[in-house]
Amino acid sequence: ETLRMLVDNNLNSEKSYSQAVDLLNNGEVVAFPTETVYGLGAVATNERGVKKIFEAKGRPSDNPLIVHIGTIEEVSDFIEEIPDNAIKLMETFWPGPLTVIMKAKKGLMAPSVTAGLETVGMRMPNHEVALELLRKLKKPVAAPSANRSGKPSPTKAIHVEEDLQGRIPLILDGGATGIGIESTVLDVTVNPPVILRPGGVTKEMLEEVIGEVIQPTIMQEKLESTPKAPGMKYTHYAPDAPVQLIESDRAIVSNAILKLRKEGAKIALLAPLSFESLGADYFFPYGDEGDKEMMSTKLYDDLRACDKTDATIILATTTTTEGVGAAIMNRLEKAAGGKWFNR
Ligand code: TXA
Ligand code: MG
Repeated sequence: ETLRMLVDNNLNSEKSYSQAVDLLNNGEVVAFPTETVYGLGAVATNERGVKKIFEAKGRPSDNPLIVHIGTIEEVSDFIEEIPDNAIKLMETFWPGPLTVIMKAKKGLMAPSVTAGLETVGMRMPNHEVALELLRKLKKPVAAPSANRSGKPSPTKAIHVEEDLQGRIPLILDGGATGIGIESTVLDVTVNPPVILRPGGVTKEMLEEVIGEVIQPTIMQEKLESTPKAPGMKYTHYAPDAPVQLIESDRAIVSNAILKLRKEGAKIALLAPLSFESLGADYFFPYGDEGDKEMMSTKLYDDLRACDKTDATIILATTTTTEGVGAAIMNRLEKAAGGKWFNR
């Protein structure tokens, strides 16, 4: 049985935290909120615990985990030499949605955390509950997103429950996460550094601090035979019904709805608020047109909500790749398996 405990730093949540800390110290896994998505954590130096993460998620064992820490100082315990640009980035963006890939000291992390790589990704989450848990535990926590592998990442405790009910002992429920998509993963072992996964900390924000940063386009990523972030090669963020991308244009979407309906389809539409009147069978608004923050906050929840309908196709309107749009389009492309309506 999976226990879900409400945690709120205004309430007295001591009991929930101590139960989480005890479980983690005993080689168990615990789900907890971060500012991006919910994570499924285990003590990063405990191989038994880390293995349970892979089992609960059904995650391929060649996909390494991000290590979460509560203070910048802990980085030097686990990293061989910290590049100057990494120090600048940590001081600027931590706590926050930036994972920094660096060369790991050998033999410290549980082997499954790094999945055989010489590097490790570290981040300090910007969420009261995650930070409180890390402060009380005083150990690094390896944590991927707390979804079953292939599903959209969880942005609410109830999503974790839907995916992992009966597979994990405890979910710390801190309400809905804020940003809604996963952290930016940046490899600083190369020069210039490369964005392996776009996220809340954008290319523009990174370049303001350390100068040139490479962000491969979606096309370049497709051509690359061995992706650098092992996780990016797997199917991702996919609800049950097929997703197709479509331009954010009322006439185009309206025609698509007419055409699909003639073919007998039940249509779920993810689009800006103003598209509601187009008459899709199910409508999930992103927010106002161009509000990318709202779009990223709601995207996974909306994709999951589609699974609760009898929609046979999900049309998702796109956005530009400026700012956090790069991260949103990366996730949308993956959810759709690169498919566009009628292209
Ligand atoms: O926002 C987030 O990053 C969330 C929260 C829970 O912190 N975590 C998360 O973890 O999204 P996960 O495991 O779902 O995604 C981690 C990504 C994967 O694509 C993985 O392959 C990549 O980061 N990654 C981890 N360590 C790496 C390494 N040493 N080298 C290259 N890629 C790495
Ligand atoms: Mg994930």
